[in-house]
Amino acid sequence: MAQQLLEVNDLHTQFFTRDGVVHAVDGVSFELAAGETLGIVGESGCGKSVTALSLMRLIPQPPGRITQGSIVFDGQDVLKMDDDDVRSIRGNNIAMIFQDPMTSLNPVLTISRQISEALELHLKMDKSEARKRTTELLDLVGIASAKKRLDDYPHQFSGGMRQRVMIAMALSCNPKLILADEPTTALDVTIQAQILDLLKTLAREFRTAFILITHDLGVVAGMTQRIHVMYAGKIVEKADTTELFANPKMPYTWGLLRSIPRLDEHRKAKLVPIEGLPPDLIAPPPGCRFEPRCQYRHDVCKEKEPELTHIPNAKSDHEARCWGTQQGGWLVDTDWRREIGDTRLLEEIKKEVADLPPETKKDGEEPPIVPPPPVH
Ligand SMILES: Nc1ncnc2c1ncn2[C@@H]1O[C@H](COP(=O)(O)OP(=O)(O)O)[C@@H](O)[C@H]1O
Ligand code: SF4
Ligand SMILES: [Mg+2]
Repeated sequence: MAQQLLEVNDLHTQFFTRDGVVHAVDGVSFELAAGETLGIVGESGCGKSVTALSLMRLIPQPPGRITQGSIVFDGQDVLKMDDDDVRSIRGNNIAMIFQDPMTSLNPVLTISRQISEALELHLKMDKSEARKRTTELLDLVGIASAKKRLDDYPHQFSGGMRQRVMIAMALSCNPKLILADEPTTALDVTIQAQILDLLKTLAREFRTAFILITHDLGVVAGMTQRIHVMYAGKIVEKADTTELFANPKMPYTWGLLRSIPRLDEHRKAKLVPIEGLPPDLIAPPPGCRFEPRCQYRHDVCKEKEPELTHIPNAKSDHEARCWGTQQGGWLVDTDWRREIGDTRLLEEIKKEVADLPPETKKDGEEPPIVPPPPVH
């Protein structure tokens, strides 16, 4: 097997609260190769952000703690590193883009100070080099008249422009991995499309591995090579993106497909939320965690928890956590198109999927368009 950039194995992250232990991430495993792009999708509260924060060892402790599992990044076990090494990985190798850039940008420092300081600290650039590189990065993410905006403060930028600044900051140290957690959720739809387009182009040009976290399955369609669907702290369906949209198997994924927000007014009218609420993660249901909301459930679903297993007649790396999709199960041959109803939106999404980023970096390919800055 090819050497992976990131290997997450049986990750458990819990919060020890007065009401009980919240099993926020409950046995999550996945891998990511260098340059590969992955979407993590699921409703609010299913453990996406806690997974991302765990990778960076940013879980607030207390009340949180990673209680089990391993995270190996670039051959190093993140959970066994000392704090200095973790800080260095965060600055140099893994960058994170959040929903609200104001939580990561310092309001009292100019944009130039914030990006240049990181360049001086992590890449040992001198002041003028760092300022020049900052201008290049702002230019690259589409900030008009970048040189003139260097000494502006975050509040002088619009929401979309601030997100562009965050992306420039994320790229500044040539990370091997970018984690983007709902990067466009706070933006209006036109700006959202522009920022997603920018992220897609940059991930492709920099050949950076990229994890895009979102509640909206429509957002990841044209953005990532693989998709992992999360529900109640667990991965419930895993497939490459083309396969997931061609052959979705888990009833929860069908629910997400039905509820994809449409981009225009007509689309908005089509939104069908999944009935009911995700379970309480202090005392999740003992069987399938989706069982209380699933219209396809059988008795076994309530009694025993299904494992993530390969689906018969599907691509080899397509897995689901569902009794119905296992060998001989009642959902193996179900026509999901009939279950979903209106599939016009999915036809639109398929067009976007056709425009996916190129495959993972291979030896002998041309170098990235923007070469890494010199390190002294
Ligand atoms: N600091 C915290 N204290 C207690 N529970 C938390 C904390 N942070 C997150 N959680 C819980 O962990 C679960 C997963 O949250 P999160 O990863 O933020 O979901 P999302 O998929 O929306 O990103 C939720 O039930 C949430 O309430
Ligand atoms: S295991 Fe049962 S309840 Fe859970 S998603 Fe599959 S069919 Fe529905
Ligand atoms: Mg979140």
